[in-house]
Amino acid sequence: MSTDNVVDTKRRRFLVNATSVVAAVGAGFVAVPFLSSWMPSERAKNAGAPVEVDISKLEVGRLLVVEWQSKPVWIIKRSDKTLADLAKNDENLSDPNSENIDQQPAYAQNHDRSIKPEVIILVGICTHLGCSPSFRPEIGPADLGADWLGGFFCPCHSSRFDLAGRVFQGVPAPTNLVVPPHMYVSDNVIVIGRDGEAV
Ligand code: FES
Repeated sequence: MSTDNVVDTKRRRFLVNATSVVAAVGAGFVAVPFLSSWMPSERAKNAGAPVEVDISKLEVGRLLVVEWQSKPVWIIKRSDKTLADLAKNDENLSDPNSENIDQQPAYAQNHDRSIKPEVIILVGICTHLGCSPSFRPEIGPADLGADWLGGFFCPCHSSRFDLAGRVFQGVPAPTNLVVPPHMYVSDNVIVIGRDGEAV
């Protein structure tokens, strides 16, 4: 993942000091510290236990990276505009309606691929050969083209995904990014790794 956009919490051993970091997106791309709540013990984390995340301080348009089962999990709050723009990608996607049921739980098999439309949660691993794509939320950057409405770009073999993790046609990645099992235990607290619906 591009270090311009994201500070990976894993490097800071965030579960030890209960501190995480979000990446700033949009204008400036300045990384901003973000204090979060982390409940599992180190031992539980290593066993792949569910991870509880407080997103109350996560700002719209920013990416929070957490670790679950040794994998990066991305959490992003999407704006109304971002949600409206998703439909513009549909005709260029391989699986716009998330018909491949292996890529998300049933409760995320919808157009937004999420329990709450404004919050998308994805496993940050490319479905081609497992690289971690870069978060590219900009609209129409020179290297991705005028039609780019924000999403994820895999630097390994140029696969592209939109801000619902849906893969574009004509790239090596065969499927949409995975939505991990997750549930809300309150408005702002998500458990990654456990199934459930919004509270
Ligand atoms: S690993 Fe992502 S495109 Fe190949």
